[in-house]
Amino acid sequence: MASTLLPHVARRLEGKVALITGAATGIGECIARHFCKHGAKVIIADIQDEAAHSVCEDLGSDFATFVHCDVAKESDVEMAVNTAISLHGKLDIMVNNAAIGDPPKPSIINNNLADFERVISVNLTGVFLGTKHAARVMIPAGKGSIISLGSVCSTIGGVASHAYTSSKHGIIGLTKNVAAELGRFGIRVNCLSPYFIATPLSMNFFNLESEGDKQPGVYSNLKGVVLQQEDVAEAAVYLGSDESKYISGHNLALDGGFTTINPAFGLFASSQ
Ligand SMILES: NC(=O)c1ccc[n+]([C@@H]2O[C@H](COP(=O)([O-])OP(=O)(O)OC[C@H]3O[C@@H](n4cnc5c(N)ncnc54)[C@H](O)[C@@H]3O)[C@@H](O)[C@H]2O)c1
Repeated sequence: MASTLLPHVARRLEGKVALITGAATGIGECIARHFCKHGAKVIIADIQDEAAHSVCEDLGSDFATFVHCDVAKESDVEMAVNTAISLHGKLDIMVNNAAIGDPPKPSIINNNLADFERVISVNLTGVFLGTKHAARVMIPAGKGSIISLGSVCSTIGGVASHAYTSSKHGIIGLTKNVAAELGRFGIRVNCLSPYFIATPLSMNFFNLESEGDKQPGVYSNLKGVVLQQEDVAEAAVYLGSDESKYISGHNLALDGGFTTINPAFGLFASSQ
């Protein structure tokens, strides 16, 4: 296995089974690698077969399995969840990570229905389907942790397209509602909402060409550190592990305070 297994005492997901959508690249891949490092078995559900196969190969067949799955198709999601059950007999953690962006068109008048529906079908319907089918197998087990990837666009406007922002706001509503329902079955449902990280999705969106081009720090509130995929993966390990056993219905922002501030007032900026 390419990611080194931690010593037994340090493995925070030992014995757990996780399904991660969109884990062939980017943040999802990083979460899959972290989960394996912490002793979990992972199912990687993605539409990019080649990239996903190569991640699984790297992690080793004892730890990682690939399932071709378009999260917008219920039969695919159902089959991915069933694969976790047939291979490992259970599903402890569901990570709804897969998402797409759309070309930013600042005027809503120029936004077309097909683009809007495509983004919603992957980013929001995909999370609904992942949550639904995870709940289907977690309810009889009386436990489970469902984690969905939100964004700074889950709580504020004016950062990304109308479709992306709508989908990410919707995830927060769905998370709260499902947490309210599934608490009685011992299932926790939470969101992770990162700030900008250079991945294919965000580099496309912001028209950035290379890693070196990725200076989001200019908009960031917290100076001296840059958010990395590993920070999101660490937070996912926490929400997936028993360390977060009483946390449900929560949106954990990984944004250095970005969404708590309205820069128009600039109180602290002007006082220095
Ligand atoms: N990168 C950022 O700056 C950032 C910030 C906040 C939130 N996020 C969120 O983090 C998550 C991961 O994003 P990323 O930046 O790693 O993007 P990415 O483009 O690197 O990865 C997305 C993955 O999802 C897969 N995918 C796309 N459509 C799919 C479908 N229909 N079915 C299954 N898989 C599909 C892709 O093949 C890819 O492997 C997303 O939910 C995104 O909205 C990203």
